[in-house]
Amino acid sequence: MSNSWNSPVYRLIPGGNSVDSKLWFTKKTMSNSIISQSSKLINKLLSRNPRNEEVLEPPVETDPQKIYQELDSQFVPRDQEYIKRTKNLRLLPLEPFRRGGKYSYAEWSHVVGIFQTIMYMHLENKQNNRVLDIGCGTGILGIAAEPFLGESGHYVGIDVLKEDIEFCTEHFPKETYSFQHLDVHNTVYTPEQASKHLPWDQPDNSFDLVTALSVWTHMTEETAFYYFKEVARVLKPGGKALITFFHLDDHYEKSLSLRKEGEKGRYHMTPQSRWVFKNSAYESKYFFCVGKVPENAIGINVEGMEKMQNEAGLKRIAYYPGNWKEIPGAYFQDVMVFQK
Ligand SMILES: C[S@@+](CC[C@H](N)C(=O)[O-])C[C@H]1O[C@@H](n2cnc3c(N)ncnc32)[C@H](O)[C@@H]1O
Repeated sequence: MSNSWNSPVYRLIPGGNSVDSKLWFTKKTMSNSIISQSSKLINKLLSRNPRNEEVLEPPVETDPQKIYQELDSQFVPRDQEYIKRTKNLRLLPLEPFRRGGKYSYAEWSHVVGIFQTIMYMHLENKQNNRVLDIGCGTGILGIAAEPFLGESGHYVGIDVLKEDIEFCTEHFPKETYSFQHLDVHNTVYTPEQASKHLPWDQPDNSFDLVTALSVWTHMTEETAFYYFKEVARVLKPGGKALITFFHLDDHYEKSLSLRKEGEKGRYHMTPQSRWVFKNSAYESKYFFCVGKVPENAIGINVEGMEKMQNEAGLKRIAYYPGNWKEIPGAYFQDVMVFQK
């Protein structure tokens, strides 16, 4: 297996051992001056003599995201040399490539752990699994799934976003991972792609596990129903699907009276009042959204969920309500596990 240091993301600038020589940067996100300021700062910190403390000048950059990205690009490669017990975390990408409404290194690592655990709990065999990840983004669930692929397993990531598929193809080891671009339309992610629905280019009955993290939460009723049937088609008999939703059930109804305007969540850091699904998504009886563009965030009600499961022939075997409902949860969104 090739290791992630071969990935362009962590390619080192040859020569020397200083922090400067190890900087990786994107043209898009960082200026040379910020890099040189904080590399000086870090070099100073690394060589500081405790008896001769210097007063260090902070970098002049004030945009918190830029400062974060800069520190991240220096911290992550160092952290990855330091990982001891969780091998798959070495595959974590740098901040510009972290997706899904979660951008902090710690948060990505935490989310990898949550989904690795849920996969472990529900996979029949712990090794040599074939995993299909829909809406893979930059591969967070590919990292979570790595321990369960083993010698003969394989992970396939599918996404409508071409640039994420290109990133993943470069970043992940080719022996165990492959990625496919799905050339279909999504109003938020791929407004320029014309096709409404295309089946996945994968055989029937061929996967032990299908996953989708924060993907059915961006699908309209028609798309959600169509691809839920695709999940059933590609799963092996007895195979499982692990999919997240905003499920508009009793927990959600109860949360409505708890939500306070202007306050962040009890267990998450986004506004409580943001997650109120009061508008029908394109006049659906089952799918509801929070704002004007439904695909930004769509929830499904109990009736819709039952109909979708029945039409696809999938049985729900586990449900972990999410903390977006202002209750303690395994994750932010609701996590459901289905079986064929
Ligand atoms: C919120 S992001 C989540 C990405 C990733 N799963 C994560 O959690 O980091 C939603 C992803 O779903 C993808 N997507 C939207 N509609 C899709 C569809 N019909 N098929 C496959 N991917 C889709 C988007 O391109 C985007 O990468």
